[in-house]
Amino acid sequence: MAGIHFQPEDSDVSHQSRAVAVSAADLVSDDDRSITGDSWSIKSDYGSAVDDDQRPVGAASDYSSDKDETDAEAVSSMLGFQSYWDSAYTGELTNFREHGHTGEVWFGVDVMEVVASWTKALCIDISQGRIPNRDDDVKAVANELGDKLLSCWSVLDIGTGNGLLLQELAKQGFSDLTGTDYSEQAVSLAQSLSNRDGFPNIKFLVDDVLDTKLEQEFQLVMDKGTLDAIGLHPDGPVKRMLYWDSVSSLVAPGGILVITSCNNTKDELVQEVENFNQRKIAASLELVAAKNDESCSDHVFQYISHVRTYPTFTFGGSVGSRVATVAFRQK
Ligand SMILES: C[S@@+](CC[C@H](N)C(=O)[O-])C[C@H]1O[C@@H](n2cnc3c(N)ncnc32)[C@H](O)[C@@H]1O
Repeated sequence: MAGIHFQPEDSDVSHQSRAVAVSAADLVSDDDRSITGDSWSIKSDYGSAVDDDQRPVGAASDYSSDKDETDAEAVSSMLGFQSYWDSAYTGELTNFREHGHTGEVWFGVDVMEVVASWTKALCIDISQGRIPNRDDDVKAVANELGDKLLSCWSVLDIGTGNGLLLQELAKQGFSDLTGTDYSEQAVSLAQSLSNRDGFPNIKFLVDDVLDTKLEQEFQLVMDKGTLDAIGLHPDGPVKRMLYWDSVSSLVAPGGILVITSCNNTKDELVQEVENFNQRKIAASLELVAAKNDESCSDHVFQYISHVRTYPTFTFGGSVGSRVATVAFRQK
């Protein structure tokens, strides 16, 4: 799978992450690039994001040579290491301090705004007892009551980076906002930006989601690009399993997890959650057998909805979108 990287908001920002991204972009073929340049400013040097069942079969080998793919994979796997992010955010922090630059907006500003407004509508629906289902999209219309309801939601953004998604959620009316990242430099940047931009109440903490020290549970947990980054580590499959265990301890019962990914389709994320649920239920059943305790199906995730409004593209007769945003509810 080729890596995906998203163009930064500030085009004159220069730091190591850009250098890596550029070299990754240089490694993909012209064909690969030709399907990726669009108004969403997404470049496909960090993974493909064709929606649902509609990923073109054999598409990767159609776009790029085997060597291109191997090299791009080697480069993109750097995004699975903390050293990569520490270095990237050190550069971003310097750019912020010297030039006031905001830095990368992963997946682009449009996606960030869609994620925030869609999540707001979802939370209002749920607060008012309307749980969307497979066929029924979120419906909420913004009104004063809706805004009041949002103040009851405690929100955690894992792998928050520069924290801009939390700023966007604050603009939408959420007020209890916490961001974590394992990179100290990211947390420092996020705190500086939120102070500058008038959101001093957003809390930021250094925390590794795979070994979280947080004891609080949150009604809403957001992930934009963090599972993608974790999955790019050479031990990605194992780390992804740790991720689900950890995140299930961070989402309160009845709470929501909203994941935005460019490396997985909605159906792939649903399948990964289903695999996690099966593991969890099997472990609970063993506990039931050992302790004769019937409460065995706690803390599994249930798919509730996904963003349906991202622009789509057609490739090889199949239609897909580049980003997936999916919501799961913890039972
Ligand atoms: C693709 S960036 C996305 C940043 C941010 N969510 C955004 O949308 O702008 C991935 C982020 O995940 C963070 N990250 C990766 N692995 C992590 C882990 N195990 N624990 C906490 N943060 C992690 C990185 O430091 C980086 O900030």
